[in-house]
Amino acid sequence: MKRVDVAVIGAGAAGLFCAAQAGQRGLRVLLLDHAGKLAEKIRISGGGRCNFTNRDASPVQFHSANPHFCRSALARYTPQDFIALVQRHRVAFHEKHRGQLFCDESSQDIIDLLLRECEAGGVERWQPCAVAGVQAREDGTARWTLETARGPVAARSVVVATGGLPVPAIGATDFGLRLARQFGHAIVEPRPALVPLTFDAADWAPFAALAGVSLEVGIAAGSGKGRQRFVEDLLFTHRGLSGPAVLQASSYWRPGEALEIALAPGIDWPEALARAKASSRRQLGNELAQHLPQRLAQAWADRLGLPASRPMPEVGDKALRQLAGSLQAWRVQPAGTEGWKKAEVMAGGVDTREIDSRTLESRRAPGLHFVGEVLDVTGWLGGYNFQWAWASAHACAEALAQAQVSG
Ligand code: FDA
Repeated sequence: MKRVDVAVIGAGAAGLFCAAQAGQRGLRVLLLDHAGKLAEKIRISGGGRCNFTNRDASPVQFHSANPHFCRSALARYTPQDFIALVQRHRVAFHEKHRGQLFCDESSQDIIDLLLRECEAGGVERWQPCAVAGVQAREDGTARWTLETARGPVAARSVVVATGGLPVPAIGATDFGLRLARQFGHAIVEPRPALVPLTFDAADWAPFAALAGVSLEVGIAAGSGKGRQRFVEDLLFTHRGLSGPAVLQASSYWRPGEALEIALAPGIDWPEALARAKASSRRQLGNELAQHLPQRLAQAWADRLGLPASRPMPEVGDKALRQLAGSLQAWRVQPAGTEGWKKAEVMAGGVDTREIDSRTLESRRAPGLHFVGEVLDVTGWLGGYNFQWAWASAHACAEALAQAQVSG
């Protein structure tokens, strides 16, 4: 039987980094992944350039049923730590938007970095290699047995880094969630997040012709303490809404709820339209197009039954107020999401209330750790989810090394 200090299941962002960090701290690490190709999610991330962190990452940009859980790991491995690693490996990168850091060349640079880090830690990788099951055992220092396609493995500790449910076509499974349940952990119901939202065909018919139109919006989703507002770009699609604004909002949206959208949020619409009525002879459609894409301006006037060609002074006060209100707070009720195929992350996951936030170790099954997206910790769009993968993996590896010394 193969014997190791640590078996890491899942060679994605969190698994590769955790294995490397544990190996570099002197542990014998075996990394296992069932997928034929290595780290596909990193490869496709950031449009092929991997938005590997965000300079401004802090607990504020994460949501969870247990919101303070992520603080410890994020504080002990910061974006600056990962940036220093990227610089040591001479990976060229740039900041795109609001602290989001992308590779200049390709996501492959991050995969290569992680592989070199694993090599430096003497990590052994079995891939493809399916893991059929994990059982607790008592045998000297090994607490766990893994049944794998390459035979049984005895390990002192097991790290579950099997990620979330998005994009099943490239290897996502619910293995980590099932394993957590096996050892008595609760699961916060998983749902697709950072995902486009869809509408009933009939509700969407007036907007379907706007597919391809994009503009900056303020968007609010969720209710009570879970309500969040973002100012980002929105994109109309044939089936609904997408773009960064909607992806962000999707993480807070729940079925049955409406979104509230301010079109061109920098404009005080009641004030701007009243001023235009008093001082301009422009047609309504052209006035709206000062601040909105032309196609949207036209469609908005049509929607409210206002001729876009009507000169501003001739638009009635009541109609103008109604128009301003609909631009300032457009309420729309999505019917659903584009689902796991199109989601970038999983919201929900292993309930963190029974995981130690410093060591990422199960309180129910000592020696069993969970890192990365499999946990109920979800970041905003913009490099935050990888930062969670690095930070949780790092905290876990540190704890594994300490346990080895004290054990
Ligand atoms: P990850 O999914 O990376 O790895 C899990 C691994 O476990 C996989 O290799 C899988 O094969 C393996 N596995 C699953 N089941 C198994 C089993 N039963 N046995 C063995 N192995 C198993 N985030 C970000 O910060 N910036 C970005 O630019 C993007 N872009 C982006 C684009 C797209 C299209 C998607 C889908 C996602 C992103 N993300 C992102 C999110 C980011 O990719 C994600 O949060 C991290 O990859 C999560 O890292 P993990 O290691 O937890 O899981």
